[in-house]
Amino acid sequence: MLGQETAKIPSLGVVVAVRGSVVDIRFDDHLPPIYSVLLTGPEKKIVIEVLAQEDARHVRGIALTPTQGLARGMAVEDTGGPLKAPVGKAVLSRMFDVFGNTIDREAALSDVQWRSVHRAPPSLARRSTKSEVFETGIKVIDVLVPLERGGKAGLFGGAGVGKTVLLTEMIHNMIGHHEGVSIFCGIGERCREGEELYDAMKEAGVLPNMVMVFGQMNEPPGARFRVGHAALTMAEYFRDDEHRDVLLLVDNIFRFIQAGMEVSGLMGQMPSRLGYQPTMGTELSGLEERIANTDTGAITSIQAVYVPADDFTDPAAVHTFSHLSASIVLSRKRASEGLFPAIDPLQSSSKMATPGIVGERHYGLAQEIRRTLAQYAELKDIIAMLGLEQLSPEDRNVVVRARRLERFLTQPFFTTEQFTGLKGKLVSLADALDGCERILNDEFKDYPESALYMIGTIDEAKAKGKPVPPAAAAKPDSTSAKLGLKDAAGLRAKAASGSQPNAGAKPQPKLEHAGGAHES
Ligand SMILES: Nc1ncnc2c1ncn2[C@@H]1O[C@H](COP(=O)(O)OP(=O)(O)OP(=O)(O)O)[C@@H](O)[C@H]1O
Ligand SMILES: [Mg+2]
Repeated sequence: MLGQETAKIPSLGVVVAVRGSVVDIRFDDHLPPIYSVLLTGPEKKIVIEVLAQEDARHVRGIALTPTQGLARGMAVEDTGGPLKAPVGKAVLSRMFDVFGNTIDREAALSDVQWRSVHRAPPSLARRSTKSEVFETGIKVIDVLVPLERGGKAGLFGGAGVGKTVLLTEMIHNMIGHHEGVSIFCGIGERCREGEELYDAMKEAGVLPNMVMVFGQMNEPPGARFRVGHAALTMAEYFRDDEHRDVLLLVDNIFRFIQAGMEVSGLMGQMPSRLGYQPTMGTELSGLEERIANTDTGAITSIQAVYVPADDFTDPAAVHTFSHLSASIVLSRKRASEGLFPAIDPLQSSSKMATPGIVGERHYGLAQEIRRTLAQYAELKDIIAMLGLEQLSPEDRNVVVRARRLERFLTQPFFTTEQFTGLKGKLVSLADALDGCERILNDEFKDYPESALYMIGTIDEAKAKGKPVPPAAAAKPDSTSAKLGLKDAAGLRAKAASGSQPNAGAKPQPKLEHAGGAHES
């Protein structure tokens, strides 16, 4: 049923204990090795993967399917091999579960090979060291966090900040001009999202170069733990056998770690920090290290990473960070301000952002943008306390530039057209850089901020808004002062009521203090 060849002489065992997903089995003659797949249950539909040999007669395994109906004394069949995934041209345009069964209600697979999902990463000698930028058409990513062709990028964020939307948008933007194969792996997320993606891809006509593999949140931990390996096995086939470039998209790698934690807990291992499994590092690197470039083909991977409770020091997030060449951090604050994609440019980073790779001009501009946004972030406290009018003219210019940059770096997405009502835009790197440069040169300082919000190229700003006449602009900077004054009023009231930690201190020293912080 699994498409897996059974061993010539299946060795038979007996179920001796069932505890949720953990099953103990006795084999009297031949003990199956670790990672062997066993079949049991009334119709041999329950699949178990051996994870430990307890003693000379017993193995302990984790079920990859629900274990309802399994009872002690039931016969267990050893398939004589590990879990396998189908590979070959025939898997293109299909949708699979962890066992390699098709789940798209189309015709059965023919002409595929089955390969073990447990494979070693390519050796160091086979890896390629070229660095090339991978354009996404999303301004803020291409300018500030350029992705690497054949690299691993992570989209970090707490619940509901737009990871899935951003990932889907990237698929949408790349799939057209990406000649290679795209593999989408859904781990522990909503089934609904899988179905929506499938329909969207089918409609866009890009399914012929796409494979989808799902182990969603309704499936047992064992299945969610192995589905990433199954997807990667298919990706490796296209890289190693067909020498094609592969785009591997994972939503969500945190769920892989979480499934490993559940498996580890069920197997009775002692939990480590924050309840994570002691083997988290090895499990994650076992998967991530297989995503690599070789001289013949590359696997570029983009992974969504759920960050529990928005805590970026969570061990799962920290371990994942270290594997990636670009980290895109989504911030709840920006999402709440409607600045989508809610990427925090000051926390995101990419190892491609160096002059040697992106060129002097791009590097210089990116640095200048970061500096402006960082200065604005520092000035925010002062604006909140004292209002914008207290800033020096240079600082006020920084604020004007930063707020226009922030807005220019938002972008309407194709995937959100239905609920934002805005048409999606794809922006080339050259246009994005050009726009940022012109904003930094103060070309748009008289335009209302809203003219730069949710646009594609900078020229749309000119069509959308007219410069405010100099007379009006000379009056207290109407648009940008608004935010500052509102927040400042609140804070001043607070200070007056004496609820501040440094209550009693006169406002004056506070100004000096804040000014000092800004200068440093
Ligand atoms: N670029 C965007 N434009 C407009 N709205 C957006 C955008 N990105 C996200 N949103 C809003 O945020 C919501 C949540 O986004 P999404 O489902 O991608 O979050 P998520 O980070 O994947 O969440 P979860 O961790 O729950 O999977 C969307 O339904 C949408 O309303
Ligand atoms: Mg999501």
